[in-house]
Amino acid sequence: SGTLGTAAADSGRYFGTAVAAGRLGDSTYSTILDREFNMITPENEMKWDTTEPSRGNFNFGPADQIVNHAAAHGQRMRGHTLVWHSQLPGWVSSITDPNTLRSVMDNHITTEMNHYKGRIYAWDVVNEAFADGTGRHRGDVFQNVLGNGYIEEAFRTARAADPSAKLCYNDYNIENWSDAKTQGVYNMVRDFKSRGVPIDCVGFQSHFGTGGPPASFQTTLANFAALGVDVQITELDIAQASPTNYANTVRACMNVARCTGITVWGIRDSDSWRSQDSPLLFDAYGNKKPAYDAVLTAL
Ligand code: XIL
Repeated sequence: SGTLGTAAADSGRYFGTAVAAGRLGDSTYSTILDREFNMITPENEMKWDTTEPSRGNFNFGPADQIVNHAAAHGQRMRGHTLVWHSQLPGWVSSITDPNTLRSVMDNHITTEMNHYKGRIYAWDVVNEAFADGTGRHRGDVFQNVLGNGYIEEAFRTARAADPSAKLCYNDYNIENWSDAKTQGVYNMVRDFKSRGVPIDCVGFQSHFGTGGPPASFQTTLANFAALGVDVQITELDIAQASPTNYANTVRACMNVARCTGITVWGIRDSDSWRSQDSPLLFDAYGNKKPAYDAVLTAL
């Protein structure tokens, strides 16, 4: 078919993009969005610093704009993200009492998921919890105050809040099978599945450099899928957007039955958080780049 979304749908997958609420009024942007993409991730609007800037004061206005746009255009939503060390307000990162932090975390998850109940295909319940270069959790406030069990607690709370949403763990630098961080996340997922902790999917951010995906990427996706979870490419961008690198990334997903979809982290290069690397599928004018054609062919 002729668009990323319809081509992905031909194999039962989706093709998504990150969206910024502030760009929806740009008609070049929204025209490409609604023509090409059938899944949307809010780039920043569902993060803690926006949704609960002070304790118990929730602000869903910016994310609602995106969710309403998606509903009006037949697009599904990935919720991003509930528990993350970054874009976390100071009032949370300065909590030192475990009972307080547990109740704050559970209330944040429950309130945000309740607000969007039934409208989110998959939630990134916990984002980037593992430390680079190790198989261990990052030493953020959740780990330091609540200990190892906080990820399990977050997933159990999320399942209770919206049983119809898929619950994902999302991270970067877990694409190369032999990396210690990949092994750490794999061991966590295997442990969760063996003990019945609710987890449905693993998101591989896939922020690649000019070398593109690691050679083992398909192996990594297949090995996680074999644990009984869906796998998704959740924040794809590739420095310089080589068509070969994009095609190899898409093929890795297409070759794994439980790789259910691909999301690129923005529409035009000028929309990208890595704009100086020109990493996306459309140029600043909204023209398709060679990587676009490579992706469409690979889907
Ligand atoms: C980035 C956004 O693209 C930027 O606009 C923001 O300034 C910082 O966050 N991992 C994630 C995403 O999970 O939420 C991040 O998004 C990129 C890295």
